[in-house]
Amino acid sequence: MTQLFQRKPIASLLETGPGPSLKRVLGAGDLVMLAIGAVIGAGIFGAIGTAAAGQVGPDGSVIRYGAGPALVFSFLLLGGACALAALCYAELASMIPQAGSAYAYAYATLGELVAWIIGWDLILEYAVGNVAVAISWGDYFTTLLRGFSIEMPVWLSTGYRTALLSANPDVRGLIDTAPRVFGVPLLVNLPAFAIVMAVTWLLLRGARESARANTVMVVVKLLALALFLAVGLTSIDSSNYAPFAPNGFTGIHQGAAIVFFAYIGFDAISTAAEETRDPQRNLPIGILGGLAVCTLIYVLVGIVLTGMVPYQQLAVADPLSRALELTGYTGVGWVVALGAAVSMTAVLLVFQYGQPRIFFAMARDGLLPAWAARVDQRTRIPYVTTLFTGVLVALASLVGDAAETYDLTNIGTLFAFALVCAGVLVLRVREPERPRPFRVPLVWMVAPLGVAACLFIMVGLPYQAWERFGLWLVIGIAIYASYGYRNSKLRA
Ligand code: ALA
Repeated sequence: MTQLFQRKPIASLLETGPGPSLKRVLGAGDLVMLAIGAVIGAGIFGAIGTAAAGQVGPDGSVIRYGAGPALVFSFLLLGGACALAALCYAELASMIPQAGSAYAYAYATLGELVAWIIGWDLILEYAVGNVAVAISWGDYFTTLLRGFSIEMPVWLSTGYRTALLSANPDVRGLIDTAPRVFGVPLLVNLPAFAIVMAVTWLLLRGARESARANTVMVVVKLLALALFLAVGLTSIDSSNYAPFAPNGFTGIHQGAAIVFFAYIGFDAISTAAEETRDPQRNLPIGILGGLAVCTLIYVLVGIVLTGMVPYQQLAVADPLSRALELTGYTGVGWVVALGAAVSMTAVLLVFQYGQPRIFFAMARDGLLPAWAARVDQRTRIPYVTTLFTGVLVALASLVGDAAETYDLTNIGTLFAFALVCAGVLVLRVREPERPRPFRVPLVWMVAPLGVAACLFIMVGLPYQAWERFGLWLVIGIAIYASYGYRNSKLRA
């Protein structure tokens, strides 16, 4: 039993040993850019609409209440919660600069079983999260095509689950009208599939090249949001702010639980720890700096967006462009849609970058098969897991639904954040003397508050998300029992 909770000594985490290792090429600036690249995407360009307007199911029942204009409080609540988690991430990332992120920290603090659970859980954040981003990318892409008067057949741009779960009878009706292959309705999101495969190809070219492409995309996304804010500000109608909180605190809470997706990613750069120069200094700067910039932008976008149109109008896949269109700025809406597509490409890139490195770290520890830890001789990137992740995410994006994927990603990520906050405390008690290049201030307040805040936001998610999350964990533990438990290098 105690073997299940055996911890990896930090010294061994700092020394990656003779096995495969990655190349240190990234600095603090690259990391802040990677953080913004990972954070600003489908959450602010897509999920924000559902957070403001709420969501109803195919039978008309309320799945979640919207925050209305009080969305700005959802953003502030989330900014606070993420700052607590970010501080804890920064302490652990600076102590244990390893590719596995929260997985590696858990191995050192809470033992192998918890580490496996986190590693398994992080698949929800990275791979499943990317499914949601890819689907949202597909939505903006079809909007863009429409700007050129090109109409993509609906059955080629709508995943089967999106049709199945839609409250709109026309969309649900696609299941009956779509072409059939062997009797199965052919409802696929081809753009989502294609973008994931393209990003995978880019990543296989190497970390340095990917970071460069990311920097260009970050500049584009900041310009797109600046344009939205500048034009949106001129069309604010104060009557849209009343009622300010139509569903009271429940709306703010449940809105926060879905738009939490917009914050995910500041932690993703911790997976770049093994490719970062002077990680003790640069990782905390990247994580906290990235989060601060994004929170500020979100609060501003929340205020402007809900001031432009009545919040009920925002229940669409492309709310920012729609708000511009409704206020008479169709052309600007098109440019913002272009910016959104580029932004989401950057998110896809960072997450598609992070997931293989977590698999890589787990395989290096023997918890996944050794072939998954193979590193390319020339580019020094874990190419097997990069390709594997790409194919998996692309296939799921082909048939998945965005809202349901957001929820699953959020619950998994919040769970990982809570464990990271707990891990900081555990390590402070167990190894108080170990050098901490970055220390969480007031840790006995910050870390427990971080755990509580994450759990609180999780409670705002629909029941179905909890059910699926439970199932996911059960599957993960079964895999550990049948593979990782027998092959772990630490226990051997
Ligand atoms: N925060 C990222 C996004 O909103 C995952 O797309």
